[in-house]
Formats: sequence, structure tokens, C-alpha cells
Amino acid sequence: MRTANDNSDWLVCEQTRLAAAQLGLFLRKAVTAEDVQIRVMALDLIERGGKRLRPSLLFLAATYGEFVQEPLMRAAAALELVHIASLYHDDVMDRAPMRRNGASVNARWGNALAALAGTYLFARASALLASLGDIPNQMASQASVELCAGQLQEVENAYNLELTEAGHLNMVVRKTATLFELPCRLGAHLSGASAPHAEALATYGRHLGLAFQLTDDVLDLTGKASQLGKATGVDLREGVYSLPVLRAVRQQDAGGQRLRELLGQAWLAEEDAQTALQLVRESAGVASTLAVAREHAQRAREALATL
Ligand code: FPP
Ligand code: MG
Repeated sequence: MRTANDNSDWLVCEQTRLAAAQLGLFLRKAVTAEDVQIRVMALDLIERGGKRLRPSLLFLAATYGEFVQEPLMRAAAALELVHIASLYHDDVMDRAPMRRNGASVNARWGNALAALAGTYLFARASALLASLGDIPNQMASQASVELCAGQLQEVENAYNLELTEAGHLNMVVRKTATLFELPCRLGAHLSGASAPHAEALATYGRHLGLAFQLTDDVLDLTGKASQLGKATGVDLREGVYSLPVLRAVRQQDAGGQRLRELLGQAWLAEEDAQTALQLVRESAGVASTLAVAREHAQRAREALATL
């Protein structure tokens, strides 16, 4: 059974597209549970589709070796489940009301059940990974540790206007780029691709992940919730200062001065949050962050030149 939400038509590579089209059904089976509550919560984001970028990267990387669909499907499903699990936990931490065009799991069932559902999905992912053997299991475990470390770094730096750009980008690599690099490495490993190809694909994934997160952070400031399918302005209200904010705050002009007065404190009145958002949107930080994202997209493309 394939639903409209299992859209893989955007994929150009035929082998990748055909595999990705079958992923939805595999995911539904992988998370099945006797308990109705856990089943409904586990299926919530799976049923809403999403881009399925990480599985697609894994399938694509595997086309550089011997493409054996069955183990690749298990690996792809595991990484999508780790990703969805991290979103369930992230939305609890960010107190996000919306995800993928609907109420978030935490908004619908509360934080305790959302955290449990996320952990359940992570456990299902672990079972799939264990079936793939030691090396894939170790690669994925290490990546999950990095995700947690990156997320923790974000929490530890909440409301920190002194956070350096290098410190911020290191956090972005850990919390996001890791889960773009892993599918590339894992796809290459499982298909027996050559070591130089695996390295090139991993570099591609890492830079793509950075470009993705930097763009996502700009959209949180400039995008519309109706288009993004999730609430906007969440990061700034929660004291998570992304690159455009850090750059806007450091501007030596009236806008930068006003932002330094408004931010850096744990409580922001809604009116002040609106003012701060407007100041960041009007700052040069937005365009310069998109320029950094483009640089990483370019570096991702360059990494593919050797393939
Ligand atoms: C979304 O970022 C969240 C992440 C990229 C990582 C979240 C990681 C964890 C919660 C820890 C690890 C969890 C597991 C299960 C391994 P964002 O808030 O910038 O993006 P958003 O705008 O889509 O919410
Ligand atoms: Mg979030």
C-alpha cells in the first residue's frame, strides 16, 4: 500500500525512487505494536510522509556499489525512525505546537507520551540496526550519541549571545549534519562501495546537512507556518540563537544594539519577541547565512566530482 504521503517522485535516480516508494509500507510494519495508543503515536509522523531525505541518501549512496534492496531497506527505515524519534523529542524540548502540517505529537498527547513514543521509535530502529551487524550498528550508535551531544550543546547555549559562530556551527554539524552523513556512509558500506567513494559521499552528506540546517534556521525566521508545516519563530523565543540571529546581534548599528537589549534573557514578552524577529529579518544576517548555506551546498556538489 502506497499513499499520497509516500511521495518519492522527486527522485531522479530510478533505483533510489523505486526503493523509496516501498519505504512507507516497510516503516508501518516496522513500528507495529499491540498497544493502540503507542501504535497511533508511532504512526503519526510516518503517515504524514515527509521528504524521506535520509533514506533517499542511503539508497543513492548504495548505487555506487552492489544494490541489494532488502538490507538497504532495513537500514533506510532505521535511519528514518531515528530521525522521526529525534523530532518527537525535539518538539518536546522546543515546545513546538506543529510538525508536518498538523499538531505535533506533544501538542496532541502531551510531553510524557510524546517522549515515550520517540523512545519507542528509537527502540524499533535499534532492532533493525542490530540485524545489520556490528559495523552498521556501531556507525548508527555513534551518530545517535553525536545527535544527543549536539542537542545538549544547543540547550546549554540557550540565551547565550556570546556563542561563537564556530561553536554554533559545531553544534549544527553534530545535531543535523551527522544524520545526513550517516546514510551516505551506511549506504556505501552496505553496498561495498570503494573507500574513496564512501569518503566522497560522506563529505557530500555532511555539507548537504549543514546547508539544510542553515536554510531551515533562516526559514524559521522568514518563512510562513502554512508553507513550512511547522510553527515559525520558535528558535528565537526558546533562546536558540541561530547564525542569522548571532550575526544580527553583532551588527554595530541601532538594530544590533536593540537586539542585544532584547535578547539574552530567559523571558521575552510576545511584543518584544515580534520586535526582535523583525529586526533579525531586516538585518544582513539572513542573506549572509544563506550565502554560507550556498557555500556548503557548493562544497557538497564538489565532493561528488570524484564519483
Ligand atoms: C531538529 O532541529 C532536531 C534535530 C536536528 C536533532 C534532535 C536531537 C535530539 C532530540 C536528541 C537525539 C534523539 C534521538 C532519538 C537520537 P530544529 O529544532 O532546529 O528543527 P525544527 O525547526 O524542524 O524543529
Ligand atoms: Mg525544533
